[in-house]
Amino acid sequence: MRRRSSARSRNSSQTKTDPPIAAVILAAGEGTRMRSRRAKVLHEVGGRALVEHVVGAAIDSGAAPVIVVVGAQAAEVERRLREFEDRRRSGAEPSLLVFVRQTERRGTADAVSRARGALRRFDGDVLILSGDVPALPAAALRALIRRHRHTEAALSVLTAEPADASGYGRIVRGADRRIRAIVEHGDATAELRRIREINSGTYCARWTDLRAALSKIRPDNAQGEYYLTDAVRVLLAKGEHVEGMLHGEPAELLGINSREQLASMHRLMNQRHLERLMQQGVTLLDPATTWVHTGVRVGQDTILHPQVTLEGRTRIGRDCVVRSGCRLTDVVVGHRVELLEHTVASEARVGDDSKVGPFAHLRPGTTIGPTCKIGNFVETKKAVFGRGSKASHLSYLGDAVIGRNVNVGAGTITCNYDGEKKHQTTLADGVFIGSDTQLVAPVKVGRRAYVAAGSTVTKDVPPKALAVARSRQTNVEGWVERREQKRGRD
Ligand code: UD1
Ligand code: MG
Repeated sequence: MRRRSSARSRNSSQTKTDPPIAAVILAAGEGTRMRSRRAKVLHEVGGRALVEHVVGAAIDSGAAPVIVVVGAQAAEVERRLREFEDRRRSGAEPSLLVFVRQTERRGTADAVSRARGALRRFDGDVLILSGDVPALPAAALRALIRRHRHTEAALSVLTAEPADASGYGRIVRGADRRIRAIVEHGDATAELRRIREINSGTYCARWTDLRAALSKIRPDNAQGEYYLTDAVRVLLAKGEHVEGMLHGEPAELLGINSREQLASMHRLMNQRHLERLMQQGVTLLDPATTWVHTGVRVGQDTILHPQVTLEGRTRIGRDCVVRSGCRLTDVVVGHRVELLEHTVASEARVGDDSKVGPFAHLRPGTTIGPTCKIGNFVETKKAVFGRGSKASHLSYLGDAVIGRNVNVGAGTITCNYDGEKKHQTTLADGVFIGSDTQLVAPVKVGRRAYVAAGSTVTKDVPPKALAVARSRQTNVEGWVERREQKRGRD
């Protein structure tokens, strides 16, 4: 066995620092077994596309660049990943993503070969990852890189012993426990199929050695494909060392090939994230019915009741209570907020010490200030509420700027749409809107003004005025008696 490649010894003799690490993510396949019109790697678990999870782990492991081999729905995969990276990095940081195309699906070795151009002058280690293995944590990749360098292997493969090994490539080891080959399920004899240790499709390799090995791989197998796993044989024949690292959590290495596997992965990711939240001091009354996307953060001593769904980039502060049936998507909630049953909110913000629901609907562009109250059957859209304002019952408030300490009475409606355009309603600080008021926008109600109940407000109201915009009441005295007398005569 050759102890070191020239690249490695050059590196270690010249400097004490680690060689650079790049990643190549294989994401060109269609995923026929999903029976989907969408490319497999775009299917979601935990609110993110499968390949987003893999790219996230690659970046967190320290790899740069991160090369993604795309083919099926390449443009859409690229778009999603660019957006994903943009959300994660600050403007000043350069993009780590490089996309290369594999036009024909000729196997995993061919897919890795597509990265040759992008890695032309690269002289370090490369992580090879599958775009359909979403639960793999960055820590496992870092451990693989460490083992790979420590053992001075040319190629190291992350392996597992799942309960059911069928479908996977098997790890064939010799009497000395060293890896001899990886044999694909379809090419394996009955005896080899009894091997429980499988190839996860996750590797770390010295790029110069792997690149040389790739050109020697031939498609002489059951599938007629260029198998990346054949690099093992090529490297061993050259006298290189191939290392296998058994991962203790086989569930983290599961690849997604079917809808059934997608569903169980979704459950697994959810469980993992809920455990993290509990470790951070969040109370979950019923983890079995709580669904929280991977990107969601929840503060200490917040209580999530059963059947709560938190999606996207939702952030919840400390000491909040989220009651049953709430669904929040990309919502930022402050501290000590109470969200009562069945509050549905998206792209909204709720300030500290506010109370929302039950059955409130906060639509995009809603900003509720601190110590506000939004009660039952209140719908808001592009509406900003200042500190201490209240809309406690049955209202629609859209395209509205509402100041501090405003009281919006039951049944108030902003008539914001004239059939063509949306118009704004402004309620200044301290305004009181009586119940069953329609505010026909564009309209402004000045500071500390009152609007009488049942009004249809079509003109601006000056500060401290009372607007009454309803027909006057007339009382017809003695009307009942007169009617009864009339009936008696008939
Ligand atoms: C592969 C491994 C197998 C391993 C398993 C783990 C090979 C030959 N086999 O099998 O040993 O146990 O993963 O999950 O490597 N891809 C491309 N272009 C291609 C072919 C594949 O980009 O031409 C991508 C796919 O989109 C997928 C990944 O590579 O993300 C793996 O391909 P897949 O067809 O799922 O390989 P497996 O049969 O699962
Ligand atoms: Mg697979």
